[in-house]
Amino acid sequence: MSRCKIGFVGAGGVALRHARHLTDIPDVDIIAVTDPDGSAACEFAEMTGSLAVPGVDALLDTSVDAVYVCVPPHAHGYIEEQIVAAGVALFVEKPLGIDVRTARRIADLAGENGVLTAVGHHWRYSEAASLVRGMLDDRPIRLAVGSWLDRVPPVTWWIKRTLSGGQIVEQAVHVLDLIRLFVGEVAEVSAYANTTPPNAPGADVDGATAAILRFRSGAVGTVTAACCLAWKHLAGLDLHADDISLTIHEDRLTARTPDGPLHRSLRPDDAKKAADRAFVDAVLGRGAGPAGILVDYPEALRTHELACAITESAVRSQPVRVCG
Ligand SMILES: NC(=O)c1ccc[n+]([C@@H]2O[C@H](COP(=O)([O-])OP(=O)(O)OC[C@H]3O[C@@H](n4cnc5c(N)ncnc54)[C@H](O)[C@@H]3O)[C@@H](O)[C@H]2O)c1
Repeated sequence: MSRCKIGFVGAGGVALRHARHLTDIPDVDIIAVTDPDGSAACEFAEMTGSLAVPGVDALLDTSVDAVYVCVPPHAHGYIEEQIVAAGVALFVEKPLGIDVRTARRIADLAGENGVLTAVGHHWRYSEAASLVRGMLDDRPIRLAVGSWLDRVPPVTWWIKRTLSGGQIVEQAVHVLDLIRLFVGEVAEVSAYANTTPPNAPGADVDGATAAILRFRSGAVGTVTAACCLAWKHLAGLDLHADDISLTIHEDRLTARTPDGPLHRSLRPDDAKKAADRAFVDAVLGRGAGPAGILVDYPEALRTHELACAITESAVRSQPVRVCG
């Protein structure tokens, strides 16, 4: 395959971002898009020079090599099933869904069909990831403190639990994925929610959540989320190990060691672009190939299971053991 023909399911904000980044990658053609919102599909088709088609069947009929699924959390399921059944490479935006069952079914199907997959956990592609590894130099993390304290994002579905899955599943999942990368698997979570929704008409998601994590390694951690603010206050992760403290944000990494502080500015778009490039390279069989994909569907499933366990624990006000 010398060129990568890509289709899009969902033509909203994140689809447009991927499309902009994909046009900078050589040998990529965005050829088709489908979205029940006709005006979104037309705007996307016009911007990318692609064809707006009526559904996933029609999209697959255009003989795409890969499909980006950029739909709201509640819409995942049948879309991915059709794509993996056709044996077409799949890039899915996080979260994988609003429940674990749907995502496990898709993971199984993708595995059975040997389909190449990638998930939009772009934080793993940040330069911060390799810098942190180098600075830790195999020292185990003892404490992880993750946070996502923000306003309600400007998409209508976000404030409804049955549409978005809530803030932990929809948003803090980026931080959870980093936590898994650096600290390993979580054995058990205990979470509590402030169930008063954010101040938005019709909202029913929790306004804030606090979770305690017990890791298999013996490390401990916390994750806090809030969506009741009018600004983005904080989204990031603090890691503490012997004689080192690290703070990772999308746009900066800071570290403190006995040798003094270190500060590195990061460009968030670099990680997002790297995630797209890794996927295209894997589809085309160039560069690092599939090994360049840092978060495939099975890996993202483990992060999604952790997010769903925190949500379940908050609903039940009880500790929940994490599967996997
Ligand atoms: N990785 C990231 O940094 C990042 C950033 C933003 C959004 N996201 C994720 O991307 C997803 C979409 O977010 P968004 O901001 O683009 O939302 P959006 O509302 O702007 O766009 C979603 C689009 O999907 C369409 N859609 C809904 N159901 C569909 C279906 N069954 N088939 C086809 N299209 C359908 C909607 O009409 C809409 O145009 C969310 O899960 C979000 O968490 C990830």
